[in-house]
Amino acid sequence: MRTRLVFLFFFLIQYSAGAAELNEASSSLSPERLDLDTGGLSRASFPKGFVFGTATSAYQVEGMTHQDGRGPSIWDVFVKTPGIIADNGTAEVTVDQYHRYREDVDIMKKLNFDAYRFSISWSRIFPEGAGKVNWKGVAYYNRLINYMIKRGITPYANLYHYDLPEALEEKYLGLLNDQVVKDFADYADFCFKTFGDRVKNWMTFNEPRVVAALGYDNGLHAPGRCSKEFGNCTAGNSATEPYIAAHHLILSHAAAVQRYREKYQKTQKGRIGILTDFVWYEPLTRSKADNYAAQRARDFHIGWFLHPIVYGEYPRTIQEIVGERLPKFTKEQVKMVKGSIDFVGINQYTSYYMYDPHASKPKVLGYQQDWNVGFAYAKNGKLIGPRAYSEWLYQVPSGLYKCLMYLKERYGNPTVILSENGMDDPGNVTLAQGLHDTTRVNYYRSYLLQLKKAADDGANVIGYFAWSLLDNFEWRLGYTSRFGMVYVDYHSLKRYPKMSAYWFQKLLKRNK
Ligand SMILES: *[C@@H]1O[C@H](CO)[C@@H](O)[C@H](O)[C@H]1NC(C)=O
Ligand SMILES: *[C@@H]1O[C@H](CO)[C@@H](O)[C@H](O)[C@H]1NC(C)=O
Ligand SMILES: *[C@@H]1O[C@H](CO)[C@@H](O)[C@H](O)[C@H]1NC(C)=O
Repeated sequence: MRTRLVFLFFFLIQYSAGAAELNEASSSLSPERLDLDTGGLSRASFPKGFVFGTATSAYQVEGMTHQDGRGPSIWDVFVKTPGIIADNGTAEVTVDQYHRYREDVDIMKKLNFDAYRFSISWSRIFPEGAGKVNWKGVAYYNRLINYMIKRGITPYANLYHYDLPEALEEKYLGLLNDQVVKDFADYADFCFKTFGDRVKNWMTFNEPRVVAALGYDNGLHAPGRCSKEFGNCTAGNSATEPYIAAHHLILSHAAAVQRYREKYQKTQKGRIGILTDFVWYEPLTRSKADNYAAQRARDFHIGWFLHPIVYGEYPRTIQEIVGERLPKFTKEQVKMVKGSIDFVGINQYTSYYMYDPHASKPKVLGYQQDWNVGFAYAKNGKLIGPRAYSEWLYQVPSGLYKCLMYLKERYGNPTVILSENGMDDPGNVTLAQGLHDTTRVNYYRSYLLQLKKAADDGANVIGYFAWSLLDNFEWRLGYTSRFGMVYVDYHSLKRYPKMSAYWFQKLLKRNK
């Protein structure tokens, strides 16, 4: 009886080990057996020197939020709000890039990428936002950067991806106070001085529009402020605070660029820019009113940041509509802001129809109210494009072309890096489903064909970064959304390249 039980026990162990192997083998893809259609694209389809990379951000991939001396950011506080993150997700571990960066850089290398756009966590370097340096945090970014360089992956470092040090929020309400301009410039200066011998591509802020609008107009992102009419916020004023935060974001950006140009650029020979999200807004009908609505949307969206940076003032539409609520730049500030980019990064995912709602003046003012537009996602019953898992993400490849041509026409053809582009699947797909991400392959192919078309038509676009390398912590959606070209098993943290990863590997093959 006893021996038989022991035998059975061993048999079961052996059997289940075999089954696990079998499972893994059948769920890892064999790239040579995949039918990967690049649509005729190869490296040769893009301008000479064109850079391909993937993008992530510190909070979404690093983990170790409370360890090795890191101070909390406003997101560490925000995620604790009961019910705010899907399935109560947090970023305490996420994909643990803090320890697994070598493996992740090796994956990029294997997939033939040239570059990696990562972000530096301000509160990992300055736990209090300013003053005392956390050298363990500095050492982490040195390890990451050095390993990238060793493997031939070019670092593109972004200084801010939604993650303001909580200490500054508590000290002076963060982005609402102009003290943040100096503190950000000091933090940026420290990064240029410390990492700039190896990092030649700098970005100040990721999606300042999202920071200002979701943080201060509807409260959907940290620090979760808004007027009570627009969301469940404990404090805020949607009529004024988004504009104040945006103003300080622009000034912080410009002050950091000024430091870089005055102290480092000549010797370090790098370049610096900002990352802005850009949704394409297509008029719903050919009416004049809908055309004006679409243009208002573009001005309130990309123009809010790019117009001051290129032309030294907010778009006229914003000036007229927002009036006295809009902060003003002094003459000195205009000098600092105007021309403060060597390139602009564009995060481009989706497009919407815009119409004039013919609404009467709103009773409660707010940034989104100020647009005075209606959003539509379908026309004559037909969706603008198939939807991804995220509610906001419709696949509209032609929108990417229109964004790039719009920048060319309206903003003097600046140097552009397409700094984010991608789509998500639901978080609960099985490994096997997740790996066969044919929709994502089609997405990348169709968007890159449009990027090529824009480059052929004269848009000065010099690089492309897919979002994202890995499935990771997707803000309010937690782990219920997967944007990666590499699947992450959140229990083992094992990485499995998806079909889209091998698609890029094929696209980016170098002719020896
Ligand atoms: C999230 O946490 C709350 C209480 O803190 C709990 O009631 C709820 O069941 C949790 N939800 C999930 C999906 O774990
Ligand atoms: C506010 O919270 C309530 C209850 O948690 C929820 O039903 C409602 O949708 C929230 N409103 C907004 C605007 O987020
Ligand atoms: C995943 O979750 C959605 C709800 O968000 C559900 O409709 C779907 O059936 C789930 N899929 C799997 C494979 O569990």
